Amino acid sequence: MKLHGTMRINPYSRLEIGGCDCKELSENFGTPLYIMDEELIRENCRKFIHAFSSGYPDIEIVYAGKAFLTTAMARIIHQEGLSLDVVSGGELYTAHKAAFPMENIYFHGNNKTPGELRMGLDLGVGHMVVDNFSELEMLDELALASGITQRVIIRVSPGITGNTHEYIQTGQLDSKFGFPLYKDSALRAVKRTLASGNLIFEGLHCHIGSQISEVNAFVSAANSMLRFAARIKNELQAAVKILNLGGGFAIYYTKEDRELLPGDFSDSITSSVKEGLKRYNLPQPRLVVEPGRYIVGNAGTTLYTVGSVKDIPSVRKFIFTDGGMADNPRPALYHARYRAIVANRMTETCAEQVTLAGKCCESGDILVKDISLPSIRKGDLIAVLSTGAYNYSMASNYNRLPKPAVVLVNKGKADLIVKRESYEDVVRNDTVPARLK
Ligand code: LLP
Repeated sequence: MKLHGTMRINPYSRLEIGGCDCKELSENFGTPLYIMDEELIRENCRKFIHAFSSGYPDIEIVYAGKAFLTTAMARIIHQEGLSLDVVSGGELYTAHKAAFPMENIYFHGNNKTPGELRMGLDLGVGHMVVDNFSELEMLDELALASGITQRVIIRVSPGITGNTHEYIQTGQLDSKFGFPLYKDSALRAVKRTLASGNLIFEGLHCHIGSQISEVNAFVSAANSMLRFAARIKNELQAAVKILNLGGGFAIYYTKEDRELLPGDFSDSITSSVKEGLKRYNLPQPRLVVEPGRYIVGNAGTTLYTVGSVKDIPSVRKFIFTDGGMADNPRPALYHARYRAIVANRMTETCAEQVTLAGKCCESGDILVKDISLPSIRKGDLIAVLSTGAYNYSMASNYNRLPKPAVVLVNKGKADLIVKRESYEDVVRNDTVPARLK
């Protein structure tokens, strides 16, 4: 059985993460519980920096906060020397509260509101990533009004599609993100930026999708961007100082996935960028990548307690957990597959095929379909692995379920980094008009 990071089986046959016994974690913090392995998060940050800087002299690793962001997470990212990609006022505010250096922030988003743009300008974000012409005009006006000269990078949709679920592809022409290369839309965006007295054109961004395991897709995107940088140099006499190739680096969820190291991506990406620069005789830009999932995906585990069991003889045995699609909507949204283990009986052999389902009033609320596990009893602890990315950040209060707590484990210490919501939290923003009282 493949275990990630600091996971191990302790002498009581129980799962331990960051030196903390999962049974004790469940007793101290309750379930469902998101457990984040601090050592593995830090190791992934370092591996990315090491891999890319071994192949290229000027790199910047930007953590994509949408995968998992809390104030504590922002602190870890800063301590490890990564920059941060935010996509909303809420993420930006989280970074601000964590005293994250604003100059190390890339502010993304296809529809930043005037309020969000103003917030970014006022807080002094390092780079605005501009996504479309409406935004470009609006940012220009807002920068002028606040007397700020803002550094900008232009998001390009490079016409390349990663082989991943349709909902997480982003680089294709028919995409809501970025300026297409098609019909010179992206070139006009660069020209417009260069003509502005309030905006400074710094470079280009693209992102081809998420959970991409074909390294060649990144190489194609890099080539397409460098070809475009050559046109910018030749036709607009401007330099691309930042080449941001986005995120999307795939991780291992189940045995159907390849296990890729940051070096497997960086070797091909950095050499194709270096070749492209030579081919087009371009000055060396800073190379930026934005991993989200890779930094936190395998560092996260969700712990559930088994409640009822429903056996439909010769059809299916359902094991019901105390969470489900409210804390992990990915199986329902993308048919995502996960591995799960029985955290309190780790050495028992698998006895039966079951389906792990959640407690939401929805037939699609399945966590893992058809999985082999030891025979399950009420009260068992189920750990669903690799839930660090896009689980907590996509959690909802569906069925008015309070969101689970998040605990950061490291060397036998478990620190709460997000408190469990209470029922009072669930009704906190409700108001009752006088006529209903
Ligand atoms: N940069 C940009 C501009 C992005 O849009 C994204 C992800 C990333 C970086 C980070 O991608 P990553 O390295 O995490 O793959 N909710 C979906 C994933 C959506 C990704 C959106 N953008 C899921 O659960 O699979």
